Amino acid sequence: MTTPDLLGLPATAPGATGVPTAASPAAGTASRVPPPAATPPPEAAGATWPGIGATGRQNSQQPSFSPELARRDMPILHRTVNGKPLVWLDNGATTQKPRQVIEAVSGFYGAGNSNIHRGAHTMAREATEAYEGGRAAVAQFLGAGSPDEIVFTRGTTEAINLVAQSWGRANLGPGDDILVPVLEHHSNIVPWQMVAKETRARVVPVPLRPDGQIDLDAYADRLSMRTRLVALSQASNVLGTVPPVKEMTALAHRYRAKVLVDGAQAVAHFPVDVADLDADFYVFSGHKLFAPTGIGALYAKPEILEAMAPWQGGGNMIESVSFEQTDYAPVPHRLEAGTGHIAGVVGLLAAVNWLTGFDRPAVAAYETELLGYAQQALATVPGLDLIGSAPDRIAVLTFTLAGHDPVEIADWLDRDGIAVRAGHHCAQPALAHYGLASAARASLALYNTPEEVDQLAASLQRLQKSG
Ligand code: ALA
Repeated sequence: MTTPDLLGLPATAPGATGVPTAASPAAGTASRVPPPAATPPPEAAGATWPGIGATGRQNSQQPSFSPELARRDMPILHRTVNGKPLVWLDNGATTQKPRQVIEAVSGFYGAGNSNIHRGAHTMAREATEAYEGGRAAVAQFLGAGSPDEIVFTRGTTEAINLVAQSWGRANLGPGDDILVPVLEHHSNIVPWQMVAKETRARVVPVPLRPDGQIDLDAYADRLSMRTRLVALSQASNVLGTVPPVKEMTALAHRYRAKVLVDGAQAVAHFPVDVADLDADFYVFSGHKLFAPTGIGALYAKPEILEAMAPWQGGGNMIESVSFEQTDYAPVPHRLEAGTGHIAGVVGLLAAVNWLTGFDRPAVAAYETELLGYAQQALATVPGLDLIGSAPDRIAVLTFTLAGHDPVEIADWLDRDGIAVRAGHHCAQPALAHYGLASAARASLALYNTPEEVDQLAASLQRLQKSG
């Protein structure tokens, strides 16, 4: 077996953690989607940077899942907070990082740091190979047809702003509608409001039903030949709702509307296949996928991406520059001005490998079971009201507690080492649907356990007893 590695991706991971290249893409999703039909970057063939192009570690997917398999890779879950073992229930805000990701980023800076796509030296070639290998891994992770359909961004928010500013400015005009369900995160509302103001289009909210599902009759009513875009989350960060994205997309396409799917809260929880969804755009953030902050991606159908004009100018995105004429690079590079977050891509690649090393349907089944357990546990807390009860949902538990402000709840739990989020969760319209301005939220991930849920419930019970 090829021994890694300057990226420090040890062989003890749940799945293969050999750094995939375009020629050797990330393991774990191969049975679900074919490898991307990409042209491998030329550098991939001759890689000499240890870890890059290493194919020694094959995927060793676990046939089933236990949270301990994930916990053992998470150094931070072994620290204490306020004298208590950390119980991290703020995964909707950000996920924790496995040591494979931490070591990959540290290994890059320790031994592989270079800029990419320029310079005729070994280090630049190796860094370029890692970066383009990350693009290939993301393409395969999402079920895209080619790495060329992936644009790296700072995260979900930047990816949505990119689409709004590039595609939106070119394709929206007076009287056009952008349909946005009320449960959306502010990052999937505000960029559309901004471009709508500029183009004199309209942002049209799609209402929710009392349980937090999107009202599909209202959605169908609001769709028309004026609809240019539907922007919707594949999973709500505050209600947990998982809407029928595939069906909603098919309906939008009947009106020739494009569909942008915000996968920020989905990618860590269940397998995604953009081809199956038939999404026109798909966006996500690395840091909600066990990867570093500051890196994310936009997928777009190739014919749409091809027509998108640059939204930022600078290095990396040009073919040639003169004062008379500047020619842009092909996509995806045309949409990636400046030096990208190379270490972030290295970390994202390690995170994708780490996650896809697990049996993902088994992970999803475990999380659904944990959600059911948590709902029952929280039902034992007097005065606790859960918000959102859509039948299809991720393990997000947003709640109020009679007599206690959400910030007070989060402070109390923090004293027991339990991290939850309190506030408006960047989804004020979703909370307003329930007549609320703020709430507390426990958001679970694959490394959370029933024992941690018991600690949450017990701490909340103590808070109620304390008056
Ligand atoms: N969108 C993140 C959350 O839901 C920050 O907490």
